Amino acid sequence: RRNIAVMTSGGDAPGMNANVRAIIRAAIYKGCHAFAIFEGYSGLVKGGPEYIKEMKWHNVRGWLSEGGTNIGTARCMEFKERWGRLAACKHLIEAGIDALIVCGGDGSLTGADLFRSEWPSLIEELLGKKEITQHQFDTYKHLNICGTVGSIDNDMSSTDATIGAYSSLARICEAIDYIGATAKSHQRAFVVEVMGRHCGWLALMAGIATAADYIFIPEKPSSRAEWSDHMCEIVKKHRARGKRNTIVIVAEGAIDINLNHISPEDVKDVLVKSLKLDTRITTLGHVQRGGPAVAYDRNLATLQGVAAVEAVLDGTPDTPSPMIAVAENKIVRRPLVEAVKLTKSVARAISQKNFAQAISLRDSEFNE
Ligand code: F6P
Repeated sequence: RRNIAVMTSGGDAPGMNANVRAIIRAAIYKGCHAFAIFEGYSGLVKGGPEYIKEMKWHNVRGWLSEGGTNIGTARCMEFKERWGRLAACKHLIEAGIDALIVCGGDGSLTGADLFRSEWPSLIEELLGKKEITQHQFDTYKHLNICGTVGSIDNDMSSTDATIGAYSSLARICEAIDYIGATAKSHQRAFVVEVMGRHCGWLALMAGIATAADYIFIPEKPSSRAEWSDHMCEIVKKHRARGKRNTIVIVAEGAIDINLNHISPEDVKDVLVKSLKLDTRITTLGHVQRGGPAVAYDRNLATLQGVAAVEAVLDGTPDTPSPMIAVAENKIVRRPLVEAVKLTKSVARAISQKNFAQAISLRDSEFNE
């Protein structure tokens, strides 16, 4: 019988609980023991029965729709150090775990991939220090790892959707609809800041879904003179057609062509000074990350959870660690390391002001 563990890492996202539920139940269904690692990589570094617990079928009852992650998460600095990964390795072996599924964003999955590639040298070092026995060394020679992508940002390459992104989008749209009612009543303008880190997906999709007047996303920067003229021209046109409110969505990672951050205050300033609009700022903040998962995320997380268990059971020392993705509505396996590399190359292109390349990389489908 195999021992499969699941862990959530990085920022929580709606649908992570559904993913954990599916992994635990699929593992049990396939005759394995299922474990949860509590508090992300930090629980793995600390180890012991407080952080690594066997989970039974009933332990995840009712988790399908719940927001957040019931097994906890953390942004863990210790796991970035070799000594942290060494401790994590020892704790997995002590708990008898031979496969690990990590649900998290690109940073968390990069950590998972590094952990697997270092595994042979970590167990070697533990044996040398006599922290594991020769029998444990022989039994746990290989760790199967699989990633599922949980993040509201939808910023991971090689997958069309990350678990949580559509729930967050729904919440943003709901909030903007509420804002629209009060904005219309007072003929006001609202600048709404949304999350997404360095990715504009949430801002872009919310802009389309709420018919916002203007959006700012990191992937399409312009100079201050350009964006202020363009925005004012469009807002004026909409007002002239009888629109009583103005909604401008600013991605938190919005930048100009010199990579300077564009803040909601910068945008408000222009709306007030150039168009004399009574303008308010709303920062949606963590409201857009909490709350129950929408049906799409529940189903995506469930299908991907089952696929992740199948992937670790199929894994061999020679197969690269997979990441479970969704591409054109199909649940597929992608090589984890390639997906992480492609994601990082988008960030690199933006930091080098290579915006056209960043957009084409974001759009590009992963080529196997
Ligand atoms: O990655 C998810 C995310 O919500 C980003 O959109 C945001 O920039 C960040 O996490 C906020 O992180 P924290 O909750 O640690 O403040």
